[in-house]
Amino acid sequence: MTKIFAHRGSAGTHPENTMIAFYEAERVEADGIELDVQMTKDGALVVIHDETIDRTTDGTGWVKDFIYKELQQFNAVYKFAEQYDFCRIPLLEEVLQWIEPTELLLNIELKNGLIEYKKLEEKVIDMVRHYHLEHRVVLSSFNHNSMALCHRLAPEIETAILYMKSLCQPWKYMRAIGASGLHPYHGTVTESFVRQAHDHRVAVRPFTINKAGLMKKMFQYQVDAIFTDYPSKAKQLLNNQ
Ligand code: G3P
Ligand code: CA
Repeated sequence: MTKIFAHRGSAGTHPENTMIAFYEAERVEADGIELDVQMTKDGALVVIHDETIDRTTDGTGWVKDFIYKELQQFNAVYKFAEQYDFCRIPLLEEVLQWIEPTELLLNIELKNGLIEYKKLEEKVIDMVRHYHLEHRVVLSSFNHNSMALCHRLAPEIETAILYMKSLCQPWKYMRAIGASGLHPYHGTVTESFVRQAHDHRVAVRPFTINKAGLMKKMFQYQVDAIFTDYPSKAKQLLNNQ
């Protein structure tokens, strides 16, 4: 059955990439959560989608220009200010610590498309290993060289490539990278593509699926998982099938 990954936690209903959104994902019994990782000036791994804090907090500036102590002061409630007073940008470590005793899966997206964070791959892998989460984590990135590096460093952790435009028979390419998952933009996904991927033992997990009609279509295609900002809605639809 298709698994439901809560995209940036439950970004449709709660402040994205915060503990509040991750708790909600667990509450509605999502199978896993997806989050984004950037790095601060002092090398802390922080959970935030953008390279800057402008869109999702009350501050401005590049994540890479703050030390974590400074970043903690900004309010990440984002567009949910009426429901929540304050919440912090979490550390990746906090999320791993919390998720460890649960049964949730975790997709860590390395946000290293624009900025080359020094030793990002090594740091993320060390932390995943520290919390013994190797078999519940999928690492992904739009930066495919980074995924190749992750696979070399930690072949026991699944890697997946993110992409926006159709890839024709990407199996050979994936083998070279060592990736076993495809995380495509949903518009590129067809039923026959999913079938071919499965014939090659490749998992297909499209993003970001928020409308009921599209969810149903992806379930019918038997994709391995979807990323959605509305995990509660997706679970309900799936359970009522
Ligand atoms: O991992 C799927 C999805 O999160 C990729 O796009 O921009 O939401 O991080 P984005
Ligand atoms: Ca993401």
